[in-house]
Amino acid sequence: DWSMKGFVDEAVATIRATVGETGRVIGAVSGGVDSTVAAVLMNRAIGDRFHAVLVDNGLLRKDEAVNVVKRLRDECGVSLTCVDASEEFLGRLAGVSDPEKKRKAIGNLFIEVFEREAARIGKCDFLLQGTLYPDVIESVSFRGPSATIKSHHNVGGLLDVMKLRLIEPLRELFKDEVRHLGMAMGLPRDSVYRHPFPGPGLAIRILGPVDKEACDLLREADFIYLEELRRTGEYDKIGQAFAVLLPCKSVGVMGDCRTYERVLALRAAATSDFMTAKAHRMPYEILETVSTRIINEVRGINRVVYDCTSKPPGTIEWE
Ligand code: XMP
Repeated sequence: DWSMKGFVDEAVATIRATVGETGRVIGAVSGGVDSTVAAVLMNRAIGDRFHAVLVDNGLLRKDEAVNVVKRLRDECGVSLTCVDASEEFLGRLAGVSDPEKKRKAIGNLFIEVFEREAARIGKCDFLLQGTLYPDVIESVSFRGPSATIKSHHNVGGLLDVMKLRLIEPLRELFKDEVRHLGMAMGLPRDSVYRHPFPGPGLAIRILGPVDKEACDLLREADFIYLEELRRTGEYDKIGQAFAVLLPCKSVGVMGDCRTYERVLALRAAATSDFMTAKAHRMPYEILETVSTRIINEVRGINRVVYDCTSKPPGTIEWE
């Protein structure tokens, strides 16, 4: 629409004025709508003087890194480096069960990997952040009350160490405006309207210790869940949906054999602000299809349950 096209031009002009003729900008992208829109805007403004870094921490969803590279680099022309640090992340997480320890380990390593990559890219002047207006007005960020009881995943520490100035082209916008902006710049709808995904990724959706096997199991199950939600049109009615791998096994029967395998929980949060949420009233047919498909297609999971907890008292993520 007209006002958003106007905003694109205005944002591009502001970025050029801030960065100058020769300034260089670096920024992390995750595949989420905020960092994607910010990166594409940056690329429009200063081309390859903007460098995007995608850290594959091994905790991303199925095919996510490949899809982000395809969308941002191949389709949008963003100068993007994808760093495969999955072994390093899984190494740091080995044997760690405590959710706060997982978050700290992931956050710290993220900064190390990003700094290493920044050194390879060369001197930059600015760090791009996809900060939105709600993050600015509430110091606790869009996550609301629970943000104060969990350590947040951010790159603020990079500024001092790398002597970078912050550039935040989305800091006057609300989420829905960022989405309109993404559409106005021609990004695909499913990229603009996707559910949020947390920085620590699958590590906080695998309860107990995290290893490659558990990540692969959860990736497959989560993929089937989201595929069915998209196929049935339910996805767009939900604020955030994902699967959680529980650290326990239960007995089942498959053919003539006894099984003893992992339990998977499905979460679907009905919310628009993510501060409070209700469990989405999922049509039973979808639950049945998803459960049957996961148990048949993912060896290692033999039971699927649905989470009916509101926030509060629950949080959206299980951790
Ligand atoms: P909770 O679990 O606190 O989650 O109810 C609220 C929203 O925040 C997301 N979340 C995060 N997002 N970095 C993020 O960018 C994080 O470390 C993080 N932790 C939780 C969560 O997915 C939900 O949308």
